[in-house]
Amino acid sequence: MSDDTKQPPALRVVMMPRDANVYGTIFGGVILSYLDQAGFIEARKLALHRWVTVSIEKVDFRAPVFIGDAVSFYTSTEHTGTTSIKIRIHVEADRLSSGETVHVTEARLTMVAVNQECRPIPFASPPTAGIEAGDMTEA
Ligand SMILES: CC(C)(COP(=O)(O)OP(=O)(O)OC[C@H]1O[C@@H](n2cnc3c(N)ncnc32)[C@H](O)[C@@H]1OP(=O)(O)O)[C@@H](O)C(=O)NCCC(=O)NCCS
Repeated sequence: MSDDTKQPPALRVVMMPRDANVYGTIFGGVILSYLDQAGFIEARKLALHRWVTVSIEKVDFRAPVFIGDAVSFYTSTEHTGTTSIKIRIHVEADRLSSGETVHVTEARLTMVAVNQECRPIPFASPPTAGIEAGDMTEA
């Protein structure tokens, strides 16, 4: 077990036919979308704000993902700034066909805490998500 996978994943998802191309492998963009969600789950552990993704570093896909694979997104906070945090995400797929676990990719996201006007705010400031409960129940 690597350091990345010692904690439970932030997100685990089974890939469905709607996520796949005509060859039965999963679109890279689907994995990118889940990276974003996993990043948000990590960010909200630090503070309950509106978080936006400002940057996703280069992502290399090392193995394909297939329909029926259970894909796990393991997150950790690598760096904290004033309004931003950098999150590392390690992605593994458990094959439906064999049960084998394969390393799919890893990524680094930078997320910024913002106010209702979408301007950066220090993430260590008191939670602001509740203030917006009327117009924001999801990220
Ligand atoms: C995120 C956003 C509010 C930042 O605005 P900005 O004017 O660049 O703000 P700042 O220059 O004050 O930077 C804010 C923080 O983001 C960091 N940052 C800005 N651009 C960055 C980049 N390209 N990569 C990494 N970090 C970045 C800064 O270093 C700073 O971090 P710190 O406060 O921890 O030191 C603005 O760029 C934005 O709204 N982007 C769109 C976000 C979005 O909608 N994402 C989803 C796309 S569909």
